[in-house]
Amino acid sequence: MKNRLLSLMIFLFAFNCLIAQVKVSNLLTENLNNPVGLDIIQPRFSWQLVSDVRNTMQSAFELKVSDNLANLSSNKNLIWNSGKVLSDSSVYIAYKGIPLKSGAKYYWQVRVWDNSGKASKWSETATFQMGFLNANDWKASWISPGFVEDTVLRPSPIFRKEFATNKEIKSATAYITAHGMYEAVINGQRVGNDYLTPGWTVYNKRIQYQVYDVSGLLKKGANAIGVTLGSGWFRGSLAWNDNKNLYGKELALLMQIEISYTDGSIESIVTDGSWKSSTGSIVYSEIYHGETVDYRLEKTGWTLPAFKDDSWSGVKVQDFPKNILVGTYNEPIKKHEVFKPVKIFKTPSGEQVIDFGQNLVGFVQMKVSGKAGDQITLKFAEVLDKEGDFYIENLRAAKVTDVITLKGGGEEIFEPKFTFHGFRYLKIEGFKGEVKPENFTAIALYSAMKPTGTFSCSNELINQLQHNIQWGQRGNFLDVPTDCPQRDERLGWTGDAQAFSRTATFNMNVHNFFVKWLKDVALDQNEDGAVAFVVPNVLGKGAVASTGWADVATIAPWNIYLAYGDKRILENQYQSMKAWLGYMKSKSNNYLWNTGFHFGDWLFYSPQPDDGGRAALTDKYLIAQCFWAHSTQLLINAAKVLQKTEDITFYTNELNKIKEAFKNEYVTPNGGLVSSTQTAYVLALQFDMLPENLRDQAVNRLVVNINNYETHLTTGFLGTPYLCHVLSRFGKTDLAYKLLLQETYPSWLYPVKMGATTIWERWDGIKPDGSFQTPGMNSFNHYAYGAIGDWMYRVIAGIDTETDSPGYRKIRIEPHMEKGLTNASANLNTYYGNIGSGWKIDDKKTTYEIEIPANTTATLVIPAQNLNNVSESGKALNSIKDFKSVSFDKGVVTMLLGSGKYNFVVAQ
Ligand code: BGC
Repeated sequence: MKNRLLSLMIFLFAFNCLIAQVKVSNLLTENLNNPVGLDIIQPRFSWQLVSDVRNTMQSAFELKVSDNLANLSSNKNLIWNSGKVLSDSSVYIAYKGIPLKSGAKYYWQVRVWDNSGKASKWSETATFQMGFLNANDWKASWISPGFVEDTVLRPSPIFRKEFATNKEIKSATAYITAHGMYEAVINGQRVGNDYLTPGWTVYNKRIQYQVYDVSGLLKKGANAIGVTLGSGWFRGSLAWNDNKNLYGKELALLMQIEISYTDGSIESIVTDGSWKSSTGSIVYSEIYHGETVDYRLEKTGWTLPAFKDDSWSGVKVQDFPKNILVGTYNEPIKKHEVFKPVKIFKTPSGEQVIDFGQNLVGFVQMKVSGKAGDQITLKFAEVLDKEGDFYIENLRAAKVTDVITLKGGGEEIFEPKFTFHGFRYLKIEGFKGEVKPENFTAIALYSAMKPTGTFSCSNELINQLQHNIQWGQRGNFLDVPTDCPQRDERLGWTGDAQAFSRTATFNMNVHNFFVKWLKDVALDQNEDGAVAFVVPNVLGKGAVASTGWADVATIAPWNIYLAYGDKRILENQYQSMKAWLGYMKSKSNNYLWNTGFHFGDWLFYSPQPDDGGRAALTDKYLIAQCFWAHSTQLLINAAKVLQKTEDITFYTNELNKIKEAFKNEYVTPNGGLVSSTQTAYVLALQFDMLPENLRDQAVNRLVVNINNYETHLTTGFLGTPYLCHVLSRFGKTDLAYKLLLQETYPSWLYPVKMGATTIWERWDGIKPDGSFQTPGMNSFNHYAYGAIGDWMYRVIAGIDTETDSPGYRKIRIEPHMEKGLTNASANLNTYYGNIGSGWKIDDKKTTYEIEIPANTTATLVIPAQNLNNVSESGKALNSIKDFKSVSFDKGVVTMLLGSGKYNFVVAQ
């Protein structure tokens, strides 16, 4: 009997292994894990297949959605059941059930069948919760402080409301937004862990709100809500010249808590005329200038019930629009890495300074005990000068100072609420006693995008470069992609964002981040199609249409489409893309666009003052013509994806004329360009501006140019992203390697050698003699030159997506090994799973570690003398049945692989 039971168990186990070999995991709704507050009526679902079996594909799926967890498992009253759908799609399956309801929470599961017809088990349950689908779901009213504000310092207003519940609470959801920034607290506990909310959008056209499950914060009986507002991007100083109140003068709060009781009833707690307002401990708060707090002014217990607020003012109910409110689509800003002091020291001029070892963006938390009235000042800097003193000149007008006055009587913990700083060094004034590491912690803040990529290789300087690129991204992806995070700027510069966008997709999942921001790019586009220098556009309607900046309208959507395979971004942005093309045409003459203001190849190599003609200045209109062609090509690409046949024909015709005009104006009869710079040749080659018969000689001219600068780059913001790609495309990867590995100025590794922990704005932010570039423009955290990251992933490690099957549905892996590196390896976590590509060379062989996720295929291209030199996991290639195809031509093996892990060895 026992034996029979055992064999039955073994049989069942074996059967189970056989049946359930494929698993489903990582369920996403609109690209997020269990999002709360979606206002998309047809959300899309994605999942990953997990299997150890090579060549696993999905042949079918079944997806079910319920508004009730119990019903989901019992399959009762499902609101959508897809049934078994024969399809290999595992991303962006759109919801097709009965209409979703405002505020409702939904549960879903999926199961799949693999290519051998075996079914997986049902996945774990994922959830999503809707936001408000109609403007009139908002029962709350906008409220502003009821007192007369001090218009000089503009202390942060605080709002309070007490209410009682006398029934058992089943669940409670808070919907919150503000004109300004908010921090909400319920019964003494912070609501959520998002910072600088509601984030930054084109506030006059749309404002995001956040949704939080606050069931755990409320209790039966008396409850209190306390909310603090800060000026933030809404009315704080932005851009230059103390430019304030860009979106309005008055701060305002809008908040609604929907409470469901166990008896089925529902109650709404809303902002309205019954709330109270006052001021508290935040005396002053500005993004650029920092925060001043006086804890003696804190109203102790104001976020708890039973606080006496009789002396507080009422509130002003405002009529601000609610039909511009939108659910938050991108990941909110959260706290991330935490840094302890690596060095606490006195500078030569006697200042007390802490070095946190990393240039980061966020703030410093201070824990301190002292007497009432003790005042401590914190200042922030990215670098020390060559004497070793604290250097803040490059922060320009930004005061970047937090001032804290203690109330005394025990430990006080300071953290600013509505500002952020870009810094590595902290200067402390007024701190009594010894500064100890436990007193100060630096905390990095950025949009909570999932990390997706890693890159490392045998050269430690390149590894530091990769580190710097990633930190440049962290520091400048704070709800919008900014140029820099420290000086009086921190704006969504469109040129920087387009240049870095492809690299950004490797390091982190920036999908929703860009979907959100690109909507603002379109909203801030002028009627004539001109795209702003910065988005949100706080520089005015005239600050538009610079080539290479405005092209963010076409370049970023296309890059996001390639990285994530999401057609919807092309649909959403299509009109904006077209409008930008319309603008360029309207400013051109016979297809030559040579008018208007352009930043050009910003910050290209230009030695001062007597440079003997070494400055690498490229004609701005030549650049404009190249980007016009590029944007047109991207529109044609988008039109193909969206099957807009007429547009394909029309714009193909336009493109030919744009290129013809380029040739007539900028190409000499012998095929030279009128600007003989690296950027000119790089753009002309990258965007196919030259007829095929003139390309090779142009490549030679580019090579000669690079050699004339002793193998140094001279490109600025617009040429740099494509420099190494062009060299690789035309068979000069060896030279691209030399440029990458170049350690002297101008180069990527020069700042690394100078101790950089982020990417600098300029190739020589700190000069070889330790002096600084001009303080008017010298940020040490600017990601644009970090655009080389894309080439490192796509060419050195060789991970790319096939354009006709984007989002890494069909992968191409083609690593490039050249002198200077003996190994390199990269990983990219896609919606299908992890792609890995690593190579290692020794005297006898090259080894490749490759990983291909389930439900994808990959073309692997590696060099070998012949097929017999290649083995996989110790077996000769021709003995392996797993591969879909293997071919050999002119020293290159091309294999079509399905999912799985592979270890190839190529003997020399
Ligand atoms: C910003 C840039 C931006 C540029 C435009 C600078 O002040 O920091 O990165 O693209 O202006 O020229």
